[in-house]
Amino acid sequence: MKRVVFDRVGPPAEVLRLEDDVPAPQPKRGEVLVRIIASPINPSDLMFIAGKYGLKPPLPATPGFEGVGLVEATGGGLLGWLRKGKRVAVINDRIGNWGEYTVTSARLVIPVPDAMSDEQAACFFVNPATALAMTMDVLKIPKGAWLLQSAAGGELGKMVIRLGYKFAFRTINVVRRREQVEELKKLGADHVIVESDGPIPEQVRKLVPDGVRFAIDPVGGEIASQVLSALAQGGRCLLYGSLSDEPVSVHPRYFIGNDLRVEGFWLGAWAKKQRVLTLLNLFKRMRVLMAEGVLQTQFAATYPLEDVKKAVEHAAAPGKGGKVLLRIGVR
Ligand SMILES: NC(=O)c1ccc[n+]([C@@H]2O[C@H](COP(=O)([O-])OP(=O)(O)OC[C@H]3O[C@@H](n4cnc5c(N)ncnc54)[C@H](OP(=O)(O)O)[C@@H]3O)[C@@H](O)[C@H]2O)c1
Repeated sequence: MKRVVFDRVGPPAEVLRLEDDVPAPQPKRGEVLVRIIASPINPSDLMFIAGKYGLKPPLPATPGFEGVGLVEATGGGLLGWLRKGKRVAVINDRIGNWGEYTVTSARLVIPVPDAMSDEQAACFFVNPATALAMTMDVLKIPKGAWLLQSAAGGELGKMVIRLGYKFAFRTINVVRRREQVEELKKLGADHVIVESDGPIPEQVRKLVPDGVRFAIDPVGGEIASQVLSALAQGGRCLLYGSLSDEPVSVHPRYFIGNDLRVEGFWLGAWAKKQRVLTLLNLFKRMRVLMAEGVLQTQFAATYPLEDVKKAVEHAAAPGKGGKVLLRIGVR
């Protein structure tokens, strides 16, 4: 089979290479062998390859945390047997999904409805689960409350906007490119502010004088610091990414005086703390919201595995306007 590998961490376009004649991995008991159809390139994949992610790659490693594929074989166990022959969304943090075959725990593959396209199914887990869990399960944003988010024009940010519109919480959305303002308003954003138009707290307080009760930030650095300064008394913020690769800096008196709560959110760690029934319920809600278009992913381009270097460069480019997908096999 073909697969993408890297032998050392570093800039993805430099360290990735294609192997085109290696044996497929063998599933052990409790695992399944999945023939991969497609897998997206998420920021977490790029950080993992660069050695800047919470999980360290066991080198040599194959990237690709999520994707869609067909379960072709099982290493034994009831769940694997039940999944055999099914088209599934695959989450994988051991042998990645950027190859023609992968092996993962039978518990980490979820059958997807026939009506769901391969592209949407490939992006079933990471962004939809994070957007839904952060807003509705962790922050539990009430109807009418304000949520401020940065990087709002990214794929996850757009899901959060649609969730706000659907569940009647209000969103203030920060973007760095002015051309995204109208696009995000059409999705249901209440307000869209542009980074370069002035400090975020000032722009926010013109709209909501007391500041916002809730915020989420995947950028870090100066942007996250400004997002935190736009919180209202008793406000709460989830930091869930590090796109700027810069530390956050806010004076402690600001936290103390305003009774703020700032927490990290990582889907994998959050999911491990949930009961099985809670997760099954989350997947059920995700399927419905994906069918409704709320948790939908837009795509910028699709590349074959052979063009993985071009694909990772495209995925890291500012203003790409959608997810970059690797198309690995056919249904
Ligand atoms: N913690 C978790 O469990 C978890 C789960 C899922 C995702 N995430 C994180 O969520 C974030 C978004 O993921 P995604 O799939 O939506 O990515 P995406 O579609 O690539 O979107 C990224 C967005 O961030 C903007 N951006 C990138 N670097 C920026 C910077 N330095 N300053 C300001 N804006 C910047 C981009 O703006 P342009 O459009 O102008 O380029 C784009 O709108 C990532 O950090 C990812 O790691 C975390």
